[in-house]
Amino acid sequence: MTGPMGPLGRRTTHVEWGQRSMKPKALRRIGVLTGGGDCPGLNAVIRVVTKAAILKLGIDVLGIEEGFLGLIEDRVRPLRYDDVSNILTVGGTILGTSNRADPARFCTGYDPDGRPVVADVTDRVLATIERHHMDLLICIGGDGTMSAANGMIRRGVPCVGVPKTIDNDLMHCELTFGFTTAVQTASECLDKIHTTGASHHRIMVVELMGRNAGWLTLQSGLASGADVILIPELPYDLDAVCEFCLRRAAAGRRFTLIAVAEGARPRGGQQVIDRIIVDSPEPVRLGGIAQKLAADIENHIRRETRATILGHVQRGGAPVAFDRVLATLLGHRAIQMAALGEWNQVAVWRAGRTDMVPIADVADQQRLLELDDPLIAVARALGTCLGD
Ligand code: F6P
Repeated sequence: MTGPMGPLGRRTTHVEWGQRSMKPKALRRIGVLTGGGDCPGLNAVIRVVTKAAILKLGIDVLGIEEGFLGLIEDRVRPLRYDDVSNILTVGGTILGTSNRADPARFCTGYDPDGRPVVADVTDRVLATIERHHMDLLICIGGDGTMSAANGMIRRGVPCVGVPKTIDNDLMHCELTFGFTTAVQTASECLDKIHTTGASHHRIMVVELMGRNAGWLTLQSGLASGADVILIPELPYDLDAVCEFCLRRAAAGRRFTLIAVAEGARPRGGQQVIDRIIVDSPEPVRLGGIAQKLAADIENHIRRETRATILGHVQRGGAPVAFDRVLATLLGHRAIQMAALGEWNQVAVWRAGRTDMVPIADVADQQRLLELDDPLIAVARALGTCLGD
């Protein structure tokens, strides 16, 4: 590699990279941030972005703390090669994250009635970017982070996105890293609840995350042989669920394992909201459908029923090997896109390979299960009750 030294003492030039004909854009320093809820695999992305930027492009990388909050509050630190060694297998994110920091609608305080005072603080972000001489941002996040990145793009800041979420609900991305790990974790939990439920002849209702999408619940439910799987895309009929439990009991199977998505709701009813986070751009947090469903079943058919909410255990821990590789592939594609000037796009996984789509096309969107999804057909073929 040849070229001038970057501000942190590295050369700022580009190299031939793989089989692609590189037409590199002049980059000297990039910022990396992780926004939204964390998920296993974020560190694998930070690692490959940083290592490839240093080794292949000879440019500097700055780590931005807690997503866009770090840009609003000017919390930025250099990421050197050694800073990203030994993080591949570690859950969470070494940069920290925040799901309350969209610069375009940032909570700056509260009025006397406790209502959030929201302001556009994009200028503060632009000042931080300028102060640290960042040429481009790598934004690792879900639809909310992509929405914030889109706001930056509109103000002239080049961004490249990397999708992450255990919900697997990012538009135009067939698989997000973190999802497979969450499915593994949730399946192991379901397996454990299965054995205690079977021993006590109980109906066990287990609530999984996923917001408005049923991917996590459907795949985990299938992986652990749940008898009933209830997803947001298919509102359930309580009578159908109760009759199914009774039919199982009549056939000698006195326990029933029910996997219910946090976003599921009874036909004609509402989702259960756990809390409203007033200073978050996406204030609604779902949760509590398991207790409601368990109570409804007990009232209806007088069978002993227990509810468990798996909660944040699904987001924690080390990524499974598959997610380490997927995260590394997507992070690698992102740094290539940065180098090639393929800016303002997000690296996605489609048709078994990496691809890219405009960040504007994934911002504030959710990819839900289609009712003709093969996994739904498989569940039906197995005799699984989907609540309809
Ligand atoms: O988007 C990831 C996710 O874990 C959802 O499945 C869940 O609804 C939400 O985040 C929980 O958010 P929080 O960590 O703010 O409670």
